[in-house]
Amino acid sequence: MKKKVIGILAVFALGAALYGGSLLNRGFSARDEPSLPETLAAHTARSLATPMRVRKMANPYAPTPDTLAEARINYAQNCALCHGNNGSGDTPIGHNLYPKPPDLRLSATQSQTDGELYAIIQNGIRLTGMPAWGEVRDDDRDRWNLVGFIRHMPTLTQDELNEMERYNPRSPDNVSPAVPDQKNDGIKPSSAGSKHSPRRSQ
Ligand code: HEC
Repeated sequence: MKKKVIGILAVFALGAALYGGSLLNRGFSARDEPSLPETLAAHTARSLATPMRVRKMANPYAPTPDTLAEARINYAQNCALCHGNNGSGDTPIGHNLYPKPPDLRLSATQSQTDGELYAIIQNGIRLTGMPAWGEVRDDDRDRWNLVGFIRHMPTLTQDELNEMERYNPRSPDNVSPAVPDQKNDGIKPSSAGSKHSPRRSQ
């Protein structure tokens, strides 16, 4: 029995040494996909970090066409850089993050509760590229509107995607005069250094 346990431990140790050796040999890159143990550990830590009270919360602001339009622009300005306008994560930055942004339209995201999505947007996800967007004593409505927008993502129309493109951040070389938009006059790109808070301008 003792010999059997030692044998099993030896096999594990050999496996770990080979895996470690191969990692050291090829080095680490953010281009890789995280391994299963890393993903499991990260998701468990994330779930422990969200209090049960928040996890059970439903969106207190039922989405309306107006709040969805606001959130769409907010998302195009602040989130699309990594997540893509359509939520696929298929962007130059998204491809090179570790872990990569998931496709927000799929069930791994959509099956999370409103409260879980809200907590992620409000607090970010530690040790990943996902920033925290909430500020202390901030009006939470913008974050809840983003949760409503993420729910709407699987059914985004081409017209909505075209509109979002106009609000995506551009490099200075690529800026054209702003296109006036009567419907969304009140929203302006958040200024640099505004702690990245996606919020409506006053
Ligand atoms: C700089 C890149 C970056 C930006 C900008 C960004 N995110 Fe993320 N986001 C990520 C990454 C990377 C992940 C995946 C983290 C992980 O796997 O733990 C993520 C994860 C998420 C998730 C969790 C998805 C899931 O299935 O668990 C949500 C929701 C989300 N982001 C929403 C947003 C919203 C809304 C914004 C804008 C207000 C935003 N993100 C801006 C990089 C970004």
